[in-house]
Amino acid sequence: MPKAIIAPSVLACDFANLQAEATRMVKNGADWLHLDVMDGHFVPNITMGAPIIKCLRPCTEAFFDCHMMVAEPSRWVEDIAKAGGNMYTFHIEATKEPVALIHQIHKAGMKAGVAVKPGTSVDVVLGEVAELADMILIMTVEPGFGGQKYKEECIPKVLTLRQKYPHLDIEVDGGLALDTIDSSAQGGANVIVAGTSLFGAPNPHEVISIFKEKVNEAQKQWI
Ligand code: DX5
Ligand code: ZN
Repeated sequence: MPKAIIAPSVLACDFANLQAEATRMVKNGADWLHLDVMDGHFVPNITMGAPIIKCLRPCTEAFFDCHMMVAEPSRWVEDIAKAGGNMYTFHIEATKEPVALIHQIHKAGMKAGVAVKPGTSVDVVLGEVAELADMILIMTVEPGFGGQKYKEECIPKVLTLRQKYPHLDIEVDGGLALDTIDSSAQGGANVIVAGTSLFGAPNPHEVISIFKEKVNEAQKQWI
């Protein structure tokens, strides 16, 4: 049974104190750190890249879940691997050769994730892509910015995947909070990305614990 994995998105943190913010989340029970890489082309925003990931690497042993919102995902695989990325999640919309890219990522020593935007059908990842990938990310907002409203209408895609692939890691990203976690957990997601609702919480430990409990409870129905 896939277990709950909570991945705070550092996009919502105080970047002037990235190390302290990242370790604060790990101390509060985070399993992974979600690092949003944006290039200003695939999405209308620019964030960070390999140099920042490399600086953060010695500060924590946490698994680095790199969400690559970039127009040329094959270009950055080796750089992110060298910087210490553990999961390289590219957007299916950004490549014509997802299978070759998954092999490239594996060859570089990372896990491969494949992300799907709200307007993209889940059908494009069913079959070979979902079978080769280590994780599928179903976006629950348009990629590019934190703090947006959760798109409930994306959850049927999660359900389709969970029914076909009971053991797959399925991640959701965007607008996850205490009032939206039930929808994602019931839909079958087990990897929860959250920025605003964790970095802005007075007690992030409590929020992380609730997310975990809800996901682990919901996963029992798929055994
Ligand atoms: C959006 C990013 C998300 C973002 C989520 O493009 O992929 O990871 O940080 O932020 P919240 O949780 O605030 O919606
Ligand atoms: Zn993200």
